[in-house]
Amino acid sequence: MKIANLTLALTLLGALGLAAGANAGKATDTTYREYTPYINYGNNPKASDDARFSNTYQYWQDNAKIDPKRAASLTEFWTVNWKYREAPFDGSLHGGHVAQDRGAGLYKQLNANGAFAGCMGAKKGELKGLRLTYPHMDKAMGSIVGMEAKIEYCAARQGMKLENGSYDNSAVSMYITAFSNGLPININVAKGPLKGAFERGKKLFHMKAGWTNFSCATCHVSLVGKNLRGQTPTTHYGDASHWPTWRSKDELQSLHIRLTECNRNSGVQPLKIGSPEYTDLEVFLTALSNGYPVASPSQRD
Ligand code: HEC
Repeated sequence: MKIANLTLALTLLGALGLAAGANAGKATDTTYREYTPYINYGNNPKASDDARFSNTYQYWQDNAKIDPKRAASLTEFWTVNWKYREAPFDGSLHGGHVAQDRGAGLYKQLNANGAFAGCMGAKKGELKGLRLTYPHMDKAMGSIVGMEAKIEYCAARQGMKLENGSYDNSAVSMYITAFSNGLPININVAKGPLKGAFERGKKLFHMKAGWTNFSCATCHVSLVGKNLRGQTPTTHYGDASHWPTWRSKDELQSLHIRLTECNRNSGVQPLKIGSPEYTDLEVFLTALSNGYPVASPSQRD
């Protein structure tokens, strides 16, 4: 009897110990979160999916329909998703061109021995199409990266400090991006490492946060076309094909910097440029731009 009890006690202790060990290992995040409901993104989304739920895609889907005059109408300008400010439609000189020239100079310096282009993934130094290979799972860096993160990494190998988010980093990015002008974005998030990043990015996009308790989707899905302190949010489709961009407030912005601005505007503490979370959001947004052509240098108000 005694022995049986002891065995039972030991068994119970063992079970408890195991259970405690298992819980400690899981470290589940119990933070309370609310989410905006997902729309149906499908397995491998593309920019044209926007037509299914927004009546704005029809206005920006092809060159012929992007009518800059629409911008003159305050009630309609947002429908063109700001694309009338992109290179093929608006050739006027702006700070993006200056940044591109700066990027060209820096690139020449960085690639003096040809190693920078190779590090960036350019085959035989060919920059055309390079933009389309980002974001990707990067073997050398051991994580999923956007192009600006890789520029920082490859520049460091050439002894130059080009911090992700800095003017010079974005300038090099803008210079490289323009070689892919007109080529459609095409990343595959249906399988491989980008699939997980897409799912995480989607979740983050719908997670409410900050004192407004807004998610990205609150503005970019629910409030599309509504006036918010003089700004009108557009849909999140087709938004990743024109980065970095020149903002008319005189600032060169990478996509990650734009995300810090959206976070701040909605009362959310911004994350670090190049953080895994922003990179996941970049993957999510880039997939939603599949099929839409790269446009650089672009500008935005
Ligand atoms: C308070 C509303 C609000 C929230 C919340 C918000 N945004 Fe924005 N966002 C805007 C407005 C307004 C603009 C400028 C108009 C436009 O392009 O949609 C903008 C612009 C953008 C752009 C640039 C679009 C372009 O064509 O240049 C991106 C990308 C973006 N937001 C992503 C996000 C992401 C990701 C989140 C969540 C982390 C987010 N936004 C949260 C209001 C918001």
